[in-house]
Amino acid sequence: MYLSDLALDDFRSYDELVLALEPGANAFIGPNGQGKTNLVEAVGYLSTFSSHRVAADAALVRQGSTGAVVRAKVIRGGRPSVVELEIVAGQANRARLNRSPVRTREVLGLVRTVLFAPEDLELVKGDPGTRRRFLDDLATLLSPRLAGVRAEYEKVLRQRVALLKSAGAAARRGSKPDLSTLDVWDGQLAAAGAQLTNARARLVGQLRPYVAQAYERVSSAASGARIDYRASIDSADGVPDPGPELLGGTGAPADEAREQAAERETALLDESAVRERLIEAMARVREKELERGVALVGPHRDELALTLGTLPARGFASHGESWSYALALKIGSYELLRDDEAFGEDGEPILILDDVFAELDTSRRARLAEMVAGAQQVLITAAVAEDVPEALQGARFSVNAGVVNRD
Ligand SMILES: Nc1ncnc2c1ncn2[C@@H]1O[C@H](COP(=O)(O)OP(=O)(O)OP(=O)(O)O)[C@@H](O)[C@H]1O
Ligand SMILES: [Mg+2]
Repeated sequence: MYLSDLALDDFRSYDELVLALEPGANAFIGPNGQGKTNLVEAVGYLSTFSSHRVAADAALVRQGSTGAVVRAKVIRGGRPSVVELEIVAGQANRARLNRSPVRTREVLGLVRTVLFAPEDLELVKGDPGTRRRFLDDLATLLSPRLAGVRAEYEKVLRQRVALLKSAGAAARRGSKPDLSTLDVWDGQLAAAGAQLTNARARLVGQLRPYVAQAYERVSSAASGARIDYRASIDSADGVPDPGPELLGGTGAPADEAREQAAERETALLDESAVRERLIEAMARVREKELERGVALVGPHRDELALTLGTLPARGFASHGESWSYALALKIGSYELLRDDEAFGEDGEPILILDDVFAELDTSRRARLAEMVAGAQQVLITAAVAEDVPEALQGARFSVNAGVVNRD
């Protein structure tokens, strides 16, 4: 798929922008702070309803305005449709499809994008929450109904934590807290949590070979990039098992540890069994949860473990290796989506590379360019034209003070 047209009203620094795009490479060049990232961020937002830079949508609305609109014509399998999203700070988004109002969930996942930006280094170096969000966003692109499961899980989790806190406080004051309500919340958390765990574990299994292969191609090093899902229910205390790479000290041979990891992963694919295990695990840690006022087990405590060779990437990989890993996660996502048959015709996502070439050395830059040169549409931003590799010749635009001109 590709976008043939993009229009922005009051999005970030743009009061009004109307832009025709081309299939293939589109490069946006301009000095710092001129609106290049703002533009591609809008395209990413249309796809995931979230920004790669900020958690709250308020920053996306132009200062002084009450709402922003992102509108695009997407060509899929040769057929156009017009997708429109209105972002109103502090309110639910409103969506239109071919000019008619629709529920937002009807346009979620229609435009598929994979965005790679310097912020993605956090996927390797940052907190587990960053990696969980990565998995959830990708799983939602593959299966948009998961958006509802995520929202339900977050809601139940918030309410359960509030109850844990108040019941814990009551217990400390010496009164006996009513724990029957907690049982109800446990059941609801387990139901949504099992669906989420299941979707993530399945995704990790699918994504693993893509990431390993992409890492090999990006870094031209022997692979050794391996992703694993570590669930908090697999441990007694809610802290995910450190995994095979750290088991060396216990004398367990690596393949044995791998086998155990594979067994644990397979077990996570059984949704009703996971639900049972979540309930059991919550019972096991209830005392501790009440004491500390936190929810210790569930997908919000799980981890996507990134291994490079025999070591965890986080804390061990070099800066360049971390970059390659982050890139491999995104290129792997892109290729997984492209091969996804369930989407039907033309599921190939639009690839967005925000400011990444400047960060890569010459050989990695050339390899990345080679890998993405065949993509149906690539949106690239760079401060200087020389940073965009030859292999990605295509439409060039200059961006200056929010004005975008085709060169
Ligand atoms: N909500 C907003 N309202 C008005 N202006 C905004 C808003 N959000 C961001 N901006 C402005 O947009 C500009 C940043 O644009 P953007 O991030 O797209 O720059 P860029 O061209 O990608 O620069 P760089 O090369 O440094 O990455 C900043 O000057 C910022 O002040
Ligand atoms: Mg930028």
